[in-house]
Amino acid sequence: MTVNKNNKHSFCCRISDKPSESVISYGKMPIANGFLNSEEFSKEYFFELAVTFCPTSKMFQLIEQPDPKMMFHENYAFFSSTSNKMAEHFEKMANNYTANFLSNPKDAFVVELGSNDGIMLRHFAKAGIKHLGIEPSSNVAEVARQNGVNTISEFFGEETARKVEAEYGKADIISAANVMCHIPDLNSVGKGIGLLLKDTGIFVFEDPYLGDVIKKTSYDQIYDEHVYIFSVQSVLNAFSPYGLEVFHVDPQTTHGGSMRYYLCRKGAHAIKESVGNQLKIEDSLRLDKIETYEQFARNCEQNKNDFVKLLKQLKADGKRVVGYAATSKSTTVLNYCDIGPDLIEYICDTTPIKQGKFSPGMHIPIKSYEDFKNDRPDYAVLFAWNHAQEIFEKEKAFIDQGGKWIVFVPEVKVLSSQESLIQNVA
Ligand code: TYD
Repeated sequence: MTVNKNNKHSFCCRISDKPSESVISYGKMPIANGFLNSEEFSKEYFFELAVTFCPTSKMFQLIEQPDPKMMFHENYAFFSSTSNKMAEHFEKMANNYTANFLSNPKDAFVVELGSNDGIMLRHFAKAGIKHLGIEPSSNVAEVARQNGVNTISEFFGEETARKVEAEYGKADIISAANVMCHIPDLNSVGKGIGLLLKDTGIFVFEDPYLGDVIKKTSYDQIYDEHVYIFSVQSVLNAFSPYGLEVFHVDPQTTHGGSMRYYLCRKGAHAIKESVGNQLKIEDSLRLDKIETYEQFARNCEQNKNDFVKLLKQLKADGKRVVGYAATSKSTTVLNYCDIGPDLIEYICDTTPIKQGKFSPGMHIPIKSYEDFKNDRPDYAVLFAWNHAQEIFEKEKAFIDQGGKWIVFVPEVKVLSSQESLIQNVA
């Protein structure tokens, strides 16, 4: 990657190897899940968070990405099982696999890439179905093992696929949720899938969907871990070189709008109407046009200006504002908007490993959920806006006691009544 005289990046797409168009830079960014102690402030790592769109592969991607070992390690701070709704989501996913894609569960083999704490595979473990989780972050993998989920701590690629095949045989299902978009080198993964999948096996993955990010200006989905934000068209282009095709797609509400992609070896399964239908939707959203991304960049700037203006006004009015949920997504928003503890006093979060630390880059203190409950500030910024329904349901008392929510997706708004909350998640 180089920077030319117009201060625009010249970058070749990881998929097509052709020049990709610069979309927006969010500036210097730390590791999104890099919650830290005050002694670590001086050695904090930063990189430039900027995205491009490739007119050839149609891939929306980060220009620079930190080394994966800086993001996924023995202190990885994201545990999948922190949300009840996500637990339900993964139980349904497991049931769908068993009901529709495992004709003979006794002989089946189910693999999950980035299996985290075993939130999905535990259903196969419970049913006595042969399974394997491949999870590079050793701390979350250990939690999975303690829950009876067979798990190895490795990055997935050609070499791991060979080892797994030799030990367990080929897989009926290879599943990955919020993982494929983390992997810059799809080449090794594509080849690994080709080696490990049975001839009629399926490779299913889901990730935040580009159509939703563009429609909702949910730019907070853009952070170090998400090297790609996929669309159906870009997935078709990315996996075709490995003999894989998309035979079904299924939109999901998780993570503020995701897409589940079902892939198989070319010709192994009949292609469902859902694929063509979604491609038509992508045409109508103009996801193949650079102008769409130019407008997206302007929308991000507008969102930032509105958010900062609101927080500064509240401070001037003497109001107390805190953050709710120290999500990875919040790191992009806080650093791009340059919002520190002067504007947001603290962020509460239920994850023990984050509590007592500081937010990456802007160093806002992270407190426990109980601290928030006992405190009752005037305003709470909903950083986990993708869990709005679950959170609004359990935080009725906050509104009843005069608290107000601030949301920023799809636009900056203050919600101060039960009716406005309901409308906002409807
Ligand atoms: P999520 O949106 O999945 O995070 P990310 O942007 O990292 O993908 O939200 C998970 C985080 O939100 C996790 O740190 C726990 C926190 N959280 C709460 O503190 N309270 C809640 O009620 C929920 C649902 C999440």
